[in-house]
Amino acid sequence: MEPTLMRHKPFCDIKNLHVSFHGRTVLQKVNLTLSDSGILVLVGSSGSGKTTFLRSLNRLNEHYSGYSGGGKIELKLSGSMQDIHCPDLEVTELRRQVGMVFQTPNVLPVSIAQNINLPLKLVTGLDKAEREGRLIEVLQEVHLWDEVKDRLKENSARLSGGQQQRLCLARVLALKPKVLLLDEPTASLDFKASHKIEDLLIELQDRYQIIAVSHSLRQARKIAGQILVMKEGQIEHLLKKDQFENPEMLQKLLEDIF
Ligand SMILES: Nc1ncnc2c1ncn2[C@@H]1O[C@H](COP(=O)(O)OP(=O)(O)OP(=O)(O)O)[C@@H](O)[C@H]1O
Ligand SMILES: [Mg+2]
Repeated sequence: MEPTLMRHKPFCDIKNLHVSFHGRTVLQKVNLTLSDSGILVLVGSSGSGKTTFLRSLNRLNEHYSGYSGGGKIELKLSGSMQDIHCPDLEVTELRRQVGMVFQTPNVLPVSIAQNINLPLKLVTGLDKAEREGRLIEVLQEVHLWDEVKDRLKENSARLSGGQQQRLCLARVLALKPKVLLLDEPTASLDFKASHKIEDLLIELQDRYQIIAVSHSLRQARKIAGQILVMKEGQIEHLLKKDQFENPEMLQKLLEDIF
């Protein structure tokens, strides 16, 4: 067996995933085993199915009108591989374990503290003191604590875009997920704020299995442990680190996209 495959264990196994909306095929014949070798960066042209792929992993597609689909998806949750469609796994529990952060920061229109507290209250049985502890822990984890500790009661809409995106990430981390789905998390941010998020993701990659959509070759090269290339609703390549360390080779493989 190839050494890298021996070292890294599978965290996601997908068999014949297919998704359509109103009878129009969006994802088809997706068969894939992903190993836990760092951040998985998902790239592909606009409309190739990246967001739909992410939404398959936490069953969000099922909420959209005209959805139909099928296939088997197993994810490593709580130590073992679990079928995400298994009736024993409630969808709310799946979404706690497979957290998602969207392209545009979607802070709740309440205070900074409440952005963390409200989901914690709804989803966990933590008491007030435990929730406060968790709040500090996650705001520190995303390096936001020093910037907001004196303004926790302020409306979160007053934060900068980059701060809001880190707050969204903290809100997801507060629920102790196993997998983080990030849909172009830096799309609405400037260069400096993007770098901050990228450095943060690199720090978090040992604690969470991260899958991030990116439209930037620079970003993909910086953060990825593996790159998944989508084209017209199918997987075109799964690139390992040694395949994209040479920028010219990577540019050639991805010339349709970047
Ligand atoms: N809820 C929906 N209803 C109907 N069509 C949809 C829905 N969601 C996605 N699609 C269609 O599926 C295709 C893939 O969309 P998706 O959002 O997954 O692409 P993407 O790769 O994320 O693109 P982008 O890079 O622009 O974000 C598109 O043609 C889109 O119109
Ligand atoms: Mg998208």
